[in-house]
Amino acid sequence: MKVLVTGGAGYIGSHVVLELLDGGHQVVIVDDLSTGRREFVDPRARLVVCDIADRGQVPALIHDESIEAVLHFAGSIVVPESVDSPLKYYLNNTAKTRTLIEFCIDAGVKHFVFSSTAAVYGEPDEIPVTETTPTIPINPYGRSKLMTEWMLQDTAAAHDFEFAALRYFNVAGADPEGRTGQATPNATHLLKVTTQVALGLRSQLSIFGTDYPTDDGTCIRDYIHVSDLAAIHVQALQYLAEGGSSCILNCGYGEGFSVRQVVDAVRRASGVEFPVCDGPRRAGDPAELIADPSRLHRTFDWKPRHADLDHIVQTALQWERHLQRTTADA
Ligand code: UD1
Repeated sequence: MKVLVTGGAGYIGSHVVLELLDGGHQVVIVDDLSTGRREFVDPRARLVVCDIADRGQVPALIHDESIEAVLHFAGSIVVPESVDSPLKYYLNNTAKTRTLIEFCIDAGVKHFVFSSTAAVYGEPDEIPVTETTPTIPINPYGRSKLMTEWMLQDTAAAHDFEFAALRYFNVAGADPEGRTGQATPNATHLLKVTTQVALGLRSQLSIFGTDYPTDDGTCIRDYIHVSDLAAIHVQALQYLAEGGSSCILNCGYGEGFSVRQVVDAVRRASGVEFPVCDGPRRAGDPAELIADPSRLHRTFDWKPRHADLDHIVQTALQWERHLQRTTADA
């Protein structure tokens, strides 16, 4: 298929682009390069640098390239920033997505894959989390994504249009072939920060809270390798193209690891006993967030290929070393 990928120069988008190209799809990327990087775009894809809501360029591109489906990744993703700058999140994640959906309806694009988040659940009472667990987001980031899910549902009810909203749990790791990875400056993700500490790029890791009601007192998350997540998107595209109806799916492995377990895995993989300090809780962190991925497995023929914490950590470390080398060379 000929597909438009927004945010295709970013962390998750660039992995999905690789998976799409490897699967024989033709890819056009729209990315404003605000956080994405041109060098992470595979040369087999066409990159157009512009805003996703650009009323001049994007509809023309959809028409001229005969786009059949849109995979939408562009957006803002830092939770604390969303608390300080909510209107940025409602603009980038909600309002601009509304415009993009309008472009699709106007052009007759019937298939839309949306990058949603487990943050729509807030602090869920039940673990593991199913798609019917109440959605009560606790920050503007989660609300900005949930509103987009609602727009998609309403649009699908009113038009000849089907979507897949994929609720990501904790996305981690990097392309095992080293072609792309996470390069966001000042990233706040646990695995990114921890690998940087292991390589001496940051001085230490603070563990945000050691008094949670978990076995070792630290928060538990469901870490999914970014390449496994990317493969889900290709399945979603195929599912919609074959006439599948709109769906909302949790994307995780259904297995949780604590912050200390992640730290131990990075120490094992790097061989470095880096310093860790126990800090206070970070506002808005639920103690435990684990996906129930059964709907995902029922809907798609998806088999995880990288569901191993040590492997996830190794790919993240390999990528961080690559970035370190290329930055040193520059
Ligand atoms: C992540 C994503 C969020 C997404 C959510 C879905 C970010 C920053 N967060 O949230 O967008 O919606 O998954 O589940 O993109 N931690 C430390 N020290 C650190 C960093 C993190 O102890 O320096 C802890 C956190 O308190 C948390 C865990 O590690 O318990 C994971 O944190 P993080 O990687 O930031 O992801 P989430 O907040 O779970």
